[in-house]
Amino acid sequence: MGGTSNKNRALDEIVRPYVGRTGGLICALRAIQAEIGFLPPETEAAAAAAFNLTRAEVKGVISFYADFVRKPKGETVIRLCAAEACQAQGARSLEMEVCRRLAIEPGATSASGDLTLERVYCLGLCSAGPSAIIDGALMGKATPEKIVKAFETGRGARK
Ligand code: FES
Repeated sequence: MGGTSNKNRALDEIVRPYVGRTGGLICALRAIQAEIGFLPPETEAAAAAAFNLTRAEVKGVISFYADFVRKPKGETVIRLCAAEACQAQGARSLEMEVCRRLAIEPGATSASGDLTLERVYCLGLCSAGPSAIIDGALMGKATPEKIVKAFETGRGARK
């Protein structure tokens, strides 16, 4: 109970500076995610109260934008492009091989919490597909070897 109350107070403090500002709700949600890493369940109630909205309205905004996440992500986030141009350049076989090598499914986070693998639909690197983005770093002409190496290098740097 105390933990939830402390969490609500923390969310209120993050949200408060954005109340009354144009686009304030989106900015507040982005700020919560930047601070916590995801939007915890208490987000809807805190944002609804602050912006005088219903929880359903806040939930609608959260679910509309794919960048808002409801669960913590892995330490490393690999996003593989699954849009048409990349598919024409081998994105499907790339995804299958990366999933096999890293023992993960698309959309999943590993049990250890070290990796999240996501599909995305165009990274703006269409002519250099298949494309990926690993912890914010774009990768064109992606191969399973390059992706696994980038993941292992990043994991090694965090140890
Ligand atoms: S289709 Fe993959 S980067 Fe555009």
